[in-house]
Amino acid sequence: MISPFASNAKIQGFAGFLLFAGFVLAVTATAADPATPGWTPPTVSEVGKGVWRIRFGQPERFTPNAVRESQPNWDGIARLPAPGTLPFQPEDIRCRVTPARTVVYVPCDEPDDQIYGFGLDPAAYEQKGLRKYLSVCAGVMDKTGASHGPVPFWLSTRGYGIYVDTARVPWVHVARLAAKTAAATATAAEELKTQAADLYIARPVAGKTAVQVEIPGDSQGVDVYVFAGPTPREVVQRYNLFSGGGCLPPLWGLGMKYRAFTGANQANITNLARALRDRQIPCDMLGLEPGWQSRSYSCSLTWAKDRFPQPESMVNELNRQGFKVNLWEHAYINPDSPLYAPLQPLSGDFLVWGGLVVDFADPRAFRLFADYHGQTLIDHGIAGFKADECDNQPLTDCTPFNFPYSSVFPSGIDGEQMIQLYGYYYQRSILSAFRARNHRTWGDVRATAALAAPLPFNLYSDAYQFDQYLRQLVNASFAGLLWSPEVRDAGNLDELLNRFALSSFAAQMCLNIWFMPHPVWEQYDHDKNLAHELLAEPEQQRIAARLREIVTLRYRLLPYLYASFHRYQAEGLPPVRSLLLDFPTDAELRKVDHEFLFGDNLLVAPYLGSEHRRQVYLPKGCNWIDFTTGTLHPGGKTLTVEGQTGDAPLFVRENTLLPWAEPVSHIASETVFDLTIKVYGDHPEPFTLVEDDGETYDYERGAQNRLTLTWANGQGAVVKNGSYPGSRYRLSRWEKVALHP
Ligand code: GAL
Repeated sequence: MISPFASNAKIQGFAGFLLFAGFVLAVTATAADPATPGWTPPTVSEVGKGVWRIRFGQPERFTPNAVRESQPNWDGIARLPAPGTLPFQPEDIRCRVTPARTVVYVPCDEPDDQIYGFGLDPAAYEQKGLRKYLSVCAGVMDKTGASHGPVPFWLSTRGYGIYVDTARVPWVHVARLAAKTAAATATAAEELKTQAADLYIARPVAGKTAVQVEIPGDSQGVDVYVFAGPTPREVVQRYNLFSGGGCLPPLWGLGMKYRAFTGANQANITNLARALRDRQIPCDMLGLEPGWQSRSYSCSLTWAKDRFPQPESMVNELNRQGFKVNLWEHAYINPDSPLYAPLQPLSGDFLVWGGLVVDFADPRAFRLFADYHGQTLIDHGIAGFKADECDNQPLTDCTPFNFPYSSVFPSGIDGEQMIQLYGYYYQRSILSAFRARNHRTWGDVRATAALAAPLPFNLYSDAYQFDQYLRQLVNASFAGLLWSPEVRDAGNLDELLNRFALSSFAAQMCLNIWFMPHPVWEQYDHDKNLAHELLAEPEQQRIAARLREIVTLRYRLLPYLYASFHRYQAEGLPPVRSLLLDFPTDAELRKVDHEFLFGDNLLVAPYLGSEHRRQVYLPKGCNWIDFTTGTLHPGGKTLTVEGQTGDAPLFVRENTLLPWAEPVSHIASETVFDLTIKVYGDHPEPFTLVEDDGETYDYERGAQNRLTLTWANGQGAVVKNGSYPGSRYRLSRWEKVALHP
């Protein structure tokens, strides 16, 4: 008998479902020999420092690794701390390729470790013991692993990560199954369980277990990658650098995005822009929803001339006022679109909303789509796109926005692979049009895949549960994804303000007011807004003022956030991330999915729902300073904090230099930030700001400066290196922040 679980020891364990006392099972397992018939022999190569590829058989033609554009940043990987020791050898990973499925077994038998990852999971944080189904899917709110960004990459607190390079929909059993040969001697007799809850309670699996990835179909093999730590943080960095490094948004992309009502016309958009400036709410991007097009759904990708008679002059005027324009769309091409005829032969054999499904895997279709966007929209001032509906409908939803797994595409990719990769290809196609023009972009997308870190798109969802929005933000940081917890409406004002606050600390801040005709500060209740029942002016003013404060705080931190994005790009370190990555030895953090790091030094613990009180755990290893009061707290402590809704509790790591900018209404090419450097603690670590044109890819060719800030003996100093000729920061002042015990 072939055991998937390599072991040369006699394994002690537990017979999970023994209902009757006195039943004893004893099994001795021996090492599974890779040469044993039935196992597919591995070919192991160390492809980079601390990165191994284990090839089983012949991998498929369409996988994220095979279709990606960005190449691994091997130099960046080599600069990371030396890899730690793996708890197993890459050769211990097994695989069985059969005509029905390819199954990968990764040892995972450390009782005290925990597993994280699998993409944008909305409901589960700790993954051990779960069964996942990593399908691209819209609006799922459970622990199955189906999501807008399912990623077969996971990491262990033991300091390693695994990526299985597949574009199929795998089932993953996360150390939850006991194979017959690994089931061990049940030494203790179990009592008869008389209640279902006791019977089915989650219980640890004893003995040797594995993370078992079942890839359906008759693929001839698969590549598995192992990323070493030493800690989970370097694992994530290695994975992101292997993906090509994190994306670098344009500087304006870090400002606020306001998406307007889907039925808005040119005059409405112009008025909205004016209202934002009149209310002095900083904003950099306006998003136009389906109504900008002559046909949607499916999409014509041409302007609706009745609603937008002069789109070009509108876009120019908005640009002049400091707004970048982002257009909603999806990649199902309406018969009225100029793209329809050329894409007819380069699309799948099913329609979605009557539109063609683009065969992005064919380079001709990929180019046609990109060039169309370039020539008709980007060249006319459009700065970004929202790539909607590229996911799959949930089983419980009958909206037909998917195509079947059995779809046929001229390129040879099959329907399952295309569904898994549609959003990924879609982003790449659009991005290529911006790259060709040396413009950075910043977009939205509703589905993505593995190895997506270099793509400057933020995931979003129609699901709206507050705690899940927060958890997705934290989980995204394990998988090279960016999550935008957008604000649409709210049941009450407190919830609205807390939603603003959460979104203001995400990689992207977005108000997606697509289903309300009036600005959100005029009425945040969806039905009333639709019915034009607006709040009284003083209340509108109060909400606009709170929104202004929340957005302004984000804008004050933009130089700091931008520096974090440069680290993401060069070092693979996510700008907004789980605390676990920076404090790997603090076991208390293993369950903390409701706080996160914003940049390297700010801990954010948003109020949930409409609360204004919560518990905050401060990680061990340093002191933390309450941003509002200056109170110093030792790490390793849980505090109860209380404040006002909309003010997310914020703690600064002691010994931080925090760049603090004078607020601006938007970020223009020539914006120079006026900075105060706030000094928290007596021995702050240096901080590096990065300066570049904020808009192009010239930084890749060296056009960037690094400004290293240091503080010693009561004096601040700046050392500037680099060859970017411009100047983005003016350092006006250093402020030693008074701390209180
Ligand atoms: C949904 C999308 C929303 C909005 C809407 C417009 O699919 O998630 O954010 O864009 O389409 O029809």
